[in-house]
Amino acid sequence: MKIAVAGKGGVGKTTVSGTLARALARSGHQVLALDGDVNPMLGISLGVGPEETDRLVAARQALDGGRLGHEPTAAGLVDKFGTDAPDGVRLVVVSRIDEADPG
Ligand SMILES: Nc1ncnc2c1ncn2[C@@H]1O[C@H](COP(=O)(O)OP(=O)(O)OP(=O)(O)O)[C@@H](O)[C@H]1O
Ligand SMILES: [Mg+2]
Repeated sequence: MKIAVAGKGGVGKTTVSGTLARALARSGHQVLALDGDVNPMLGISLGVGPEETDRLVAARQALDGGRLGHEPTAAGLVDKFGTDAPDGVRLVVVSRIDEADPG
């Protein structure tokens, strides 16, 4: 199951996303939370803390600025740009996807 959360500024996207991710994880689902927001603060909502959230934001900025290489595999991406959040959620801060295949 894939769930996308979108909407205009300040409507509660990050809060709903974090709560939904943790609730699903607590009920036994394996949850991968992808933060593609221009202001990626899902880490705060998920409870990983400001320092770890900033680290992931910095990694994406380094990627977008060409200072960090792209990760060609899904597993590598989840490892390199992700962190473990409470309740078993895995958070990954993602950049633009240029060539997404149907998967
Ligand atoms: N259901 C709710 N009831 C009341 N306040 C809420 C609710 N959901 C979120 N908020 C509050 O609204 C504000 C905006 O929420 P949030 O940051 O989740 O929105 P957002 O859509 O992610 O914003 P942005 O576009 O800036 O990323 C926060 O202060 C949050 O605590
Ligand atoms: Mg937000």
